[in-house]
Amino acid sequence: MIAMEIREIAVLGAGQMGSGIAQVFAQHGYGVTLYDISQESAESGLDQIKASLARFVNKGYMNAEQSRRIVDSVKITTSLAAVCGSDFVVEAIPELMSTKKAIFMELDRLCKPEAILATNTSSLPVTEIASATKRAENVIGMHFMNPVPVMPLVEIIRGLRTSDETHSTVTGLAQAIGKTAVSVRDCPGFVSNRILMPMINEAVYTVFEGVADPEAVDQVMKLGMNHPMGPLALADMIGLDTCLAIMETLHEGFGDSKYRPCPLLRQYVQAGWLGRKSGRGFYLYEGERG
Ligand code: CAA
Repeated sequence: MIAMEIREIAVLGAGQMGSGIAQVFAQHGYGVTLYDISQESAESGLDQIKASLARFVNKGYMNAEQSRRIVDSVKITTSLAAVCGSDFVVEAIPELMSTKKAIFMELDRLCKPEAILATNTSSLPVTEIASATKRAENVIGMHFMNPVPVMPLVEIIRGLRTSDETHSTVTGLAQAIGKTAVSVRDCPGFVSNRILMPMINEAVYTVFEGVADPEAVDQVMKLGMNHPMGPLALADMIGLDTCLAIMETLHEGFGDSKYRPCPLLRQYVQAGWLGRKSGRGFYLYEGERG
């Protein structure tokens, strides 16, 4: 089995995950095109890359010139057709199956036949996303962790029809950008979110039932279990809408009531309290908008 050579990468979605993914590929010398539907979102993705690289410069991990070159190597676009020269496309758009399938159908039409199409979905079935294309053997899950520039793991998810060659190419690609690849089967929530999200959901239940306030819940997990951040602060960082979407995928996928999303989580999302990105979740953040 011959792994394909990857040089040009396209990242779809310039949110927190997409911009982090684009940054890591650019840091490792790949040509990167970062796509979003609006110019404003694409530019905000580039700003996130600059802010993240500034942290590395402040820590002395790279100099300002290296950081500038990395930023310059990321081309932003609002035209999906700009991905047509890419060897590898990774999608990091919102977690809606219908939207993902629509964009994969379009990618299948636009991209060269040998290009690999990956999804950064955090829990949706890769096999179903792949079914929107005529190249299911070239479709795979490549699930990065947040914050992407810092977290070493990439969960590689093989859809039912993913080929060995695609799997081996993408595993090699993860290693080439300094990540550790762990392969798992296509099952709701994969491994990461099947374990992490019920813990977060249970933390929300403890607040919902008045067992403790968010600060106390997070302190228990930080000081008692040595977690780097408490589950509610982590939920705010991931985005409460994303947490809810993942719980719904687990609930629907397994049909097991143990995965039912906490009503408080649903209510916060309904209120627009989505965590850090909206200025309010279980905590309030600077420049609060929500
Ligand atoms: N870009 C670049 N560097 C960053 C960064 C970013 N966005 N965020 C943090 N860092 C770096 C800092 O520069 C710092 O580097 P040094 O260790 O060299 O000093 C380091 O990360 C630690 O940062 P801070 O001191 O600012 O903050 P911290 O010590 O609290 O660490 C953290 C921040 C890395 C986020 C840590 O709290 C942590 O590991 N939290 C848990 C994260 C986690 O569980 N992620 C997985 C979420 S689940 C997911 O992503 C999957 C899904 O589908 C939902």
